[in-house]
Amino acid sequence: MTQTYSTAARLLHWLTAIFIIALIVLGVWMTERSAANIWDALTNTLYAWHKLIGFLVLLLTAIRLTVKLRSTRPAYPDSVAPLTIKFAAAAHGVLYLLLLVVPLLGWAGVTAYPALITVGGYDLPAMPGIPKDQALAKQLFEIHGTLALALAALALAHIGAALHHLLIKKDGVFQRMWCKQGG
Ligand code: HEM
Repeated sequence: MTQTYSTAARLLHWLTAIFIIALIVLGVWMTERSAANIWDALTNTLYAWHKLIGFLVLLLTAIRLTVKLRSTRPAYPDSVAPLTIKFAAAAHGVLYLLLLVVPLLGWAGVTAYPALITVGGYDLPAMPGIPKDQALAKQLFEIHGTLALALAALALAHIGAALHHLLIKKDGVFQRMWCKQGG
């Protein structure tokens, strides 16, 4: 029987995956509208949801790293080469780093701008230590956008690798992050 990650680890993984897809779509859509100088209710709603979901990803990633440090990773099947496991660990490390740095940069940007308002008119807390400075905010948003696209590219490669294990290698690696299998 394939060993799986803990229920908490799997829940956090799939929730993060759904949120990242939503954030990329919202992020690209809202910045296209702001570049075209369309500042209507829809644009504001897209920004509000992007900021709220992005902040949730930051919190989820912090919880996820805590869960990860307190648990052991399920074993890979013997068919997976040690070098592949090292390469996967490095890629996962960069993914975790971007899952922290990208939302931190967005949060710092909206604190500096300041534009902390989210869904329902609720404000995010301001990031401590960040001054109100629009030029700084613009620089932070630029790095945020570039690293977010790097995160999207790495996430695509990650999905490709997962599908390769599921559909071609059929070696149980995908199932470790899916439901518990009977038998
Ligand atoms: C992992 C989490 C996040 C991802 C993947 C993400 C992704 C993106 C993407 C793809 C863009 C569009 C970049 C472009 O096309 O130029 C963007 C822009 C933006 N994001 Fe995020 N984001 C995240 C978290 C956050 C957070 C936490 C905040 C604020 C609380 C935030 C605030 C913004 C803002 C204000 C912009 C527009 C910047 C501008 O107008 O130039 N993001 N984000």
